[in-house]
Amino acid sequence: MSARILIVDDDPVQRRLLKGTIEREGMIADTADDGNQAVRLIAGADKPYDAVVLDLVMPVMDGLSVLAWMGENNVTTPAIVQTGLGGIETVVKAMRAGAFDFVVKPVSPERLMTAVGHARKAGKKERGGPSGKSGGGFADIVVASSAMDRILSLAKRAAASDIPVVLEGESGVGKEMIARAIQMESARRSRPYVTVNCGAIPASLVESILFGHEKGAFTGAVDNHTGKFVEADRGTLFLDEVGDLSPEVQVKLLRAVQTGEIETVGARDVRKVDIRLISATNKDLIEEVKAGRFREDLYYRLNVFPIHVPPLRQRKEDIPELARHFVRRYVRSAGRAPSMSLAPETLALLTAHDWPGNIRELENAVHRAVVLAEGDTLTADLFPQIAAQLPGYDLSSRQNGRELEEMTWVPPIEYDPVDEPVPAMIGFEHPPIRGQKDPEGALNAIAANGEVRPLAEVEEELIRFALSFYDGQMSEVARRLGIGRSTLYRKLKDYAIDPGKPLKTAA
Ligand SMILES: Nc1ncnc2c1ncn2[C@@H]1O[C@H](COP(=O)(O)OP(=O)(O)OP(=O)(O)O)[C@@H](O)[C@H]1O
Ligand SMILES: [Mg+2]
Repeated sequence: MSARILIVDDDPVQRRLLKGTIEREGMIADTADDGNQAVRLIAGADKPYDAVVLDLVMPVMDGLSVLAWMGENNVTTPAIVQTGLGGIETVVKAMRAGAFDFVVKPVSPERLMTAVGHARKAGKKERGGPSGKSGGGFADIVVASSAMDRILSLAKRAAASDIPVVLEGESGVGKEMIARAIQMESARRSRPYVTVNCGAIPASLVESILFGHEKGAFTGAVDNHTGKFVEADRGTLFLDEVGDLSPEVQVKLLRAVQTGEIETVGARDVRKVDIRLISATNKDLIEEVKAGRFREDLYYRLNVFPIHVPPLRQRKEDIPELARHFVRRYVRSAGRAPSMSLAPETLALLTAHDWPGNIRELENAVHRAVVLAEGDTLTADLFPQIAAQLPGYDLSSRQNGRELEEMTWVPPIEYDPVDEPVPAMIGFEHPPIRGQKDPEGALNAIAANGEVRPLAEVEEELIRFALSFYDGQMSEVARRLGIGRSTLYRKLKDYAIDPGKPLKTAA
């Protein structure tokens, strides 16, 4: 039987777009143009809706009031809220009010369908559906954001060939998990998968570990030892922390990669191997090359297909889904009640946090909370380390007018609802702003070369500063800069500024 989704939006164009997307997927879409009508439809439905897609800003009865009503009336239908650009505070508020997930407007059809899919699955689980399987492939990678969707489709393309891949990204973003999925979906899936942690082996042993040694090749070589390259023959070799390889080993590795031949320490002959290489690093490899620490020729050999995995703070849409995933996992392994769930407040807190340790940090925090929880609900106080790291983010006292004003933003008209990326969630790489030493400090009029700086550069810097200064509150930023909001949005677009993360930082 096909799923029934309720779309609540006061904008007729949006309603039509969303309805079209949902119906194209073979589901039934009902629509409501404001909260009151939504409540009537939800209350009057014979069978509960499978999901509600809810706009937040609506006249008469807004999205938060609908969420509140659903909470009071124990409506368990998952609600996906639509939020404006960069409004993390709005998101936080909606999550607190019980939203299941959020999408940033204008939402792409793919993102909407991912969210609806997750919501339906969660709804089914609530009613006791079957649980998922596990196996280490792409299916195990939890993804909700379009940024991560793109990464996974790159990775799948890589899996279809033997091309050498380098996965770059901060610690804990999931590089190893993606490497494993690439191998699992490649033609070499039933062949060996051998991991070398290049950073963890002592320099003196790297060679023998990678290439092996013959008995008696050096003091202590009491036996023949098969190297990782030979072990991985016909399979995949995963070089983790490849940026940590010493220059001497880089030379040897280059030779092996170039010729496909390896020289076992103490052996007379070379041996041919057939290996697919996947490397990972949390360093910026091209920077390492420029600094002379990583061989350029090796870089080009390994990095035929680069995949940059973005940090979690640049894809916050993944947070709720990941958090729920880890709750399920650790509830099972810790033998806790399967009904254990995250309080809306907690989900809000987790979404607001920037996660410097990325998914690993999130996973550990959830694990700890599941173990420590006394009841069935994971409350925010089970995450004290995170609450403490949110300066000025007092979750209990954010109910005043400042925020309401923020919620009345109009999304910029210039955005193409289909092709436009989601700025707040992607996190563009900005060129560093020259002369900006201290992001909190005053702007410099003079560039490093002693000349006056171009106006556009100063303007960009001022806008970034204002966004950070007023905590991303667009109305306030526009007012203080003395420009209209649509001008501000246009400039954000021109300068590729991510309003959720305006300042260029070293991290
Ligand atoms: N998208 C995801 N879905 C589910 N689990 C994930 C996801 N991404 C990462 N994880 C989990 O987060 C943890 C960290 O991931 P992983 O070890 O792959 O990170 P990494 O980038 O290799 O980090 P490091 O650079 O520190 O080695 C692992 O337990 C992994 O299973
Ligand atoms: Mg790793």
